Amino acid sequence: MRTFFTISELRDELKQIRKEGKTIGFVPTMGYLHEGHLSLLKRAKAENDVIIISIFVNPTQFGRGEDFDSYPNDLERDSILVESVGADIIFAPLVREMYPNGYSTFVDVEGTITQGLCGRQRPGHFKGVATIVSKLFNIIDPDAAYFGQKDAQQVCAIEQMVKDMNFPVRIVTCPTVREANGLALSSRNAYLNQKEREEASVLSKSLQEAKRMVCLGERDATNLKRVMTNLINTAEDARIEYIEIVNAKTLQSMETVKEEILIALAVCFGKTRLIDNIRLDCKS
Ligand code: PAJ
Repeated sequence: MRTFFTISELRDELKQIRKEGKTIGFVPTMGYLHEGHLSLLKRAKAENDVIIISIFVNPTQFGRGEDFDSYPNDLERDSILVESVGADIIFAPLVREMYPNGYSTFVDVEGTITQGLCGRQRPGHFKGVATIVSKLFNIIDPDAAYFGQKDAQQVCAIEQMVKDMNFPVRIVTCPTVREANGLALSSRNAYLNQKEREEASVLSKSLQEAKRMVCLGERDATNLKRVMTNLINTAEDARIEYIEIVNAKTLQSMETVKEEILIALAVCFGKTRLIDNIRLDCKS
């Protein structure tokens, strides 16, 4: 396994790999890796010859007052984890490598996909994500790139961007990896204290409860959201930012659930903002 810090050295290496006719699988991350990230690497490994992971805490996707400065990082620990799943290359550039002085080009996915859910709460976030991911795609030119369903809106935005900008890359979405109590793994879980961590399992429980209700025939989004809200509010430290039920493809909100839906939420526990979601097919 090799680690590259500069774009030019990475490009030289990739030129060689491509000459040998190998396929490249790419997993973009912000590091402080957990089993969720590793599941993407494992899937990439199963489908490609060479696996690249980027580890870069991207400043342009953090808003003012968010946790850019305190975002956890540990490249040594991450390297051991990356090596353990047999990935080949880490790309870990400095901020000035990706955004040198005078940097001024951004990619913005407009419309309903980025307007609601986290887009409403975090203006500019998806612009930062689309910009860094398109830069990484341009540098790496992967055959396939792997993203987690955990960040459902991010996947939709990236898919739209790839389509609109004609990136020749296959986007693969992987299921959310959870702790035994249902809490979706996240680098930000490191901020939670023991009480908050236990309480935060209420998020996945509320999604499972909504799923149960939909399976039993409930189609009223307001009812579903009310039950979820009540359940989440049983956790003392929970502060709901949003609970939304939207079309899984367009992310447009709906009052009567039908077809493929996404139930998505963002809830703060203390200073930690957690997101989770579930996708359901209501066709039948
Ligand atoms: P990060 O939060 O580090 O996540 C990197 C990838 O891991 C994303 O595709 C995310 O959806 C996935 N992931 C996170 N938790 C997961 C879990 N519990 N199960 C499965 N997959 C999970 O998302 C980002 O970084 C950034 O926005 C990035 C795309 C790298 C752009 O900066």
